Amino acid sequence: GANGAKAGKTRNIVEKMEEEGKNCIILYGSQTGTAEDYASRLAKEGKSRFGLETMVADLEDYDYDNLDAVPSDKVVMFVLATYGEGEPTDNAVDFYEFITSEGPSFSLDNDPALGNLNFVAFGLGNNTYEHYNSMVRNVNKALEKLGAHRIGDAGEGDDGAGTMEEDFLAWKDPMWTALAEKMGLEEREAVYDPIFSIVDREDLDRDAPEVYLGEPNKMHRDGTPKGPFNAHNPYIAPISKSHELFNVKDRNCLHMEIDISGSNLSYQTGDHVAVWPTNAGEEVDRFLDIFDLTTKRNHVISVKALEPTAKVPFPTPTTFDAVVRYHMEICSPVSRQFIASLAAFAPDEQSKAEMTKLGSDKDYFHSKVNVHCLNITRILATVSKGKKWTNVPFSLLIESVTKLQPRYYSISSSSLEQPKMISITAVVESQSLPGREDPFKGVSTNYLLALKEKQNGDPNPTPFGLSYEITGPRNRFDGIHVPVHVRHSNFKLPSDPTKPVIMVGPGTGVAPFRGFVRERRKMAENGKDVGKTILFFGCRKSAEDFLYEKEWEEAKQVLGDKFEIVLAFSREGSKKVYVQNRLKERAKEVNELLQQKAYFYVCGDAANMAREVNSVLGQILCEERGIPEAKAEDIVKQMRAANQYQEDVWS
Ligand code: FAD
Ligand code: 2AM
Repeated sequence: GANGAKAGKTRNIVEKMEEEGKNCIILYGSQTGTAEDYASRLAKEGKSRFGLETMVADLEDYDYDNLDAVPSDKVVMFVLATYGEGEPTDNAVDFYEFITSEGPSFSLDNDPALGNLNFVAFGLGNNTYEHYNSMVRNVNKALEKLGAHRIGDAGEGDDGAGTMEEDFLAWKDPMWTALAEKMGLEEREAVYDPIFSIVDREDLDRDAPEVYLGEPNKMHRDGTPKGPFNAHNPYIAPISKSHELFNVKDRNCLHMEIDISGSNLSYQTGDHVAVWPTNAGEEVDRFLDIFDLTTKRNHVISVKALEPTAKVPFPTPTTFDAVVRYHMEICSPVSRQFIASLAAFAPDEQSKAEMTKLGSDKDYFHSKVNVHCLNITRILATVSKGKKWTNVPFSLLIESVTKLQPRYYSISSSSLEQPKMISITAVVESQSLPGREDPFKGVSTNYLLALKEKQNGDPNPTPFGLSYEITGPRNRFDGIHVPVHVRHSNFKLPSDPTKPVIMVGPGTGVAPFRGFVRERRKMAENGKDVGKTILFFGCRKSAEDFLYEKEWEEAKQVLGDKFEIVLAFSREGSKKVYVQNRLKERAKEVNELLQQKAYFYVCGDAANMAREVNSVLGQILCEERGIPEAKAEDIVKQMRAANQYQEDVWS
């Protein structure tokens, strides 16, 4: 494909490795950036421990027909995430089609085609999905079938069990041993070899026009939005309305209407919108403080890649403050490997020893860090008892701290009703945890909450309000704009509106179904005949977190018998009642609707709910149709394959 073809850049992997003097290329298929991170970490480790000449590359930027021409003294590593229902990530689609096709055609006439190729493979998946790690499994199979030699095991990381990091760590060491043996590499004392240089730009004032202060696109610099808007360039959308759907003790839920009329963006009911968050001011301050950057925070710096194959992940010249605030995932979980790499820069011997222990002892790390949801700042402050980590090179932080990622939300509006206004429904993450003085707060949801407060001019922030830089010199965040892009999804109503639909969406899982119901309501208002529309909704208590209660009544007024909402309140009676219990109670009707080719939808929690609903549906078919369990499960599988069963789930 011509996707990544930039003028003058080769798409030939072998040529590229030759040009750059590399003997190890690490290709990643990444959706949310995790696979890309692991790829970078492998590159760094290969270089520092074994002196490998490594480079990291986006699968989308290369062609694959000359994988057969990679010499046998080099190695190609694949780090591949599996997305959604066993799909490749967007940037890996072409590669996946090529390598798994019947007899892909290569540049040479080798037999077997990939007999010269040495490869390494690691996959990122989630065992709560049916097609667990199917990307790495299928690619590994395809490569072996073509005669390629795998070094080490094909690793599998499991996000569902929450063991991704540990799976990766456990996989990589034996892989390195095998690779070192195969390539005759000698392990050396790891030295930190920076990939980026940081140059002070005393000649530049922070307010100089060329200094990047976090503008997500050129809109604020030039006064006009510059499209196209996509995953690389968000649209800074006006927020038209926002309010809280409920607000109880430490839980609340936001409804926000985002205006995309000033852009070329479009959406269809059931799509996702990505929100580009900003870190909370308090967290940015803590981070800058622990690395002793507070007084320098607004100094202008230029960041340059010392490696021709490395890319500076943000525009420069810029400031320390802008990099940390808008580009680093400073609140997320931290890897043990990163902790171990920081030991060398500890402010004293005691901290160094503690970091080494945390880095090498899995159980110790778990008990000290994971259970308290500590981020990097909090870990370091605890270890050094507040002493600053002045020696840590900023380049190491750029290399090691994950890139701040956009968060996806299921669009809860209907494009038929409001084609240029997107709504989202988001539960604000805030959890009190033992061993922490302050509650854990989600990055994106608390940012959205702050925007809502600012927009509504609320005099009193909610109990867990945080402060945000919303009045910066370039006016990036005036409180009434939010950077977004749209991601199209396959989660769609049947094209024939007379087909019945069954929707299962407890909690915020109801988001896309609000869009679905509003769409059908609009169709009915337009005089269309609309099929039976049943929504199974669950929440804790009717008077607490019942989302969009009034709207369902309004839908009923328009749709009459065609619409029904079935409710499961889990914390009202003495026993928990969940949506799947209600589904079971309606077994006869559910089965009849499915026989009329009803579409079945599930949205929300991937970990438990979606799986349990799937199995209850199997039980319903089994009992109502008097067929064996295995047969019923088969039917459910066929429904999925035919898009009659659709999921929009997240963990
Ligand atoms: P984050 O800061 O990203 O934290 C999220 C979780 O990560 C925490 O709860 C915690 O478990 C873990 N975590 C973070 N930091 C640490 C740490 N230091 N240590 C240990 N654990 C940590 N959400 C909705 O509310 N509504 C929707 O409609 C919706 N639709 C979605 C659709 C899709 C396709 C996907 C993928 C997700 C969807 N989500 C939705 C979830 C949403 O994208 C966000 O994940 C959610 O809002 C939390 O984001 P956050 O930035 O506030 O939390
Ligand atoms: P609970 O928190 O009282 O257990 C929205 O979050 C609703 O989904 C709540 O009523 C919640 O109940 C419920 N819920 C929790 N776990 C669930 C599961 N495994 N299946 C279905 N619903 C679940």
